[in-house]
Formats: sequence, structure tokens, C-alpha cells
Amino acid sequence: MSRIRRLLAVCSGFWLLAAGSAGCARVPGVEVPDVRTPPEVVIEILRLARVGPDDVVYDLGSGDGRIVITAARDFGARGVGIELDPDLVAESAGNARRAGVAERTRFLQQDIFVADTSEATVVTLYLSPEVNLRLRPKLLSQLKPGSRIVSHDFPIGDWQPARVVNFEGPERTHVLSLWIVPPR
Ligand SMILES: C[S@@+](CC[C@H](N)C(=O)[O-])C[C@H]1O[C@@H](n2cnc3c(N)ncnc32)[C@H](O)[C@@H]1O
Repeated sequence: MSRIRRLLAVCSGFWLLAAGSAGCARVPGVEVPDVRTPPEVVIEILRLARVGPDDVVYDLGSGDGRIVITAARDFGARGVGIELDPDLVAESAGNARRAGVAERTRFLQQDIFVADTSEATVVTLYLSPEVNLRLRPKLLSQLKPGSRIVSHDFPIGDWQPARVVNFEGPERTHVLSLWIVPPR
């Protein structure tokens, strides 16, 4: 196994065992490693949030941009990816161009705790229980009531989801949870 593959395996294993650790950060501030959501699961996440052409989908920690790009290409939405790793931001922009959705997507090199998400009608998360919990006050104060949040695999503290889907992916079951931002 190459050194990079070994490092990725160690990072991923560590994240799955102790989600929330900052120990694998290659870029300062990156709180969880870049583990990708399989394409079929991306579709299910966007279906669960009932994404449509009127939506603005923010993926916090957007990796290679796949959720934002799929939301634009297959669901007609606009999308914004927030990602701290500059290489992934550049990769996402290239992927969006190749998918023909560059005009309806943006990728910003920002920290998810600093980014302004107030424009979002849908937020997607694939982070960790600890990071989700720290994000909750920001999500509740910035998002409009009625906005939807979908988290892949991880809870948002003790906030009870409106719906949970156990989705059979290519290699394992993915737990997808939906929350609706309540009125203020
Ligand atoms: C598990 S990956 C998920 C990628 C993508 N959302 C998906 O589902 O395929 C988490 C991503 O969050 C990014 N990330 C971690 N901490 C971050 C932070 N504080 N601000 C912005 N991005 C961050 C990582 O670089 C990584 O790409």
C-alpha cells in the first residue's frame, strides 16, 4: 500500500472511530478528513431534502463538490460549496465546469464556522457529531425558518430529526437525517 493510501486509511479509520477529531488535518482548520459520499447516496440526500429549482443548496465541507454539482445538474438548484482545502475547491470548480453547471454553482475556500449560510434553503453535512453540534447555533440563527438540513450519518446533538432514512449504499447502510429549521 502506498504511503498516501496508508495515511488515508488511517485518517478514515480514526475518523470513523473517533468522529470529530482534528488529528488528520492536512490543511489547518480542517476538522474531518475528505471521505466522499457515494453518488447514489448524494441523490438520496437531495431527494430527502426535496431539492428543486427554487433551492439554494449549501454543502458545508464540500470535498470535490459532488453534492452541489448534483443538486445543480440533476435537481435544477443553485449550489454553494464551502471547503477549507484549496486543492478541493479548485477540483470542485473543474468538476462543475465539466458537468456544465459552472454558472449555477460556486465554491468558496472558507471555514464552515465563518461562512455566511443565510442564503441557503438546504444545507447538507457530512462532518462529525462534534462538528455538527458546534454548527447548530449558527445554523439556527442564520437559516430561514423552513430551511432543510440533511446530515449524512451524524446527529446534531439532541435535536430530533423530522425524518430518518436508512439507505443501503454500495458498501454499507447510510443514515440520512432531515431537520427543518423551526420558526423563530
Ligand atoms: C467527509 S468530507 C465530505 C465531503 C462531501 N461533503 C461529501 O459528502 O462527499 C468533509 C469535508 O469537510 C472539509 N472540512 C473539514 N473541516 C472544515 C472546515 N472547518 N471548513 C471547511 N471545510 C472543512 C474537509 O476538507 C472535507 O473535504
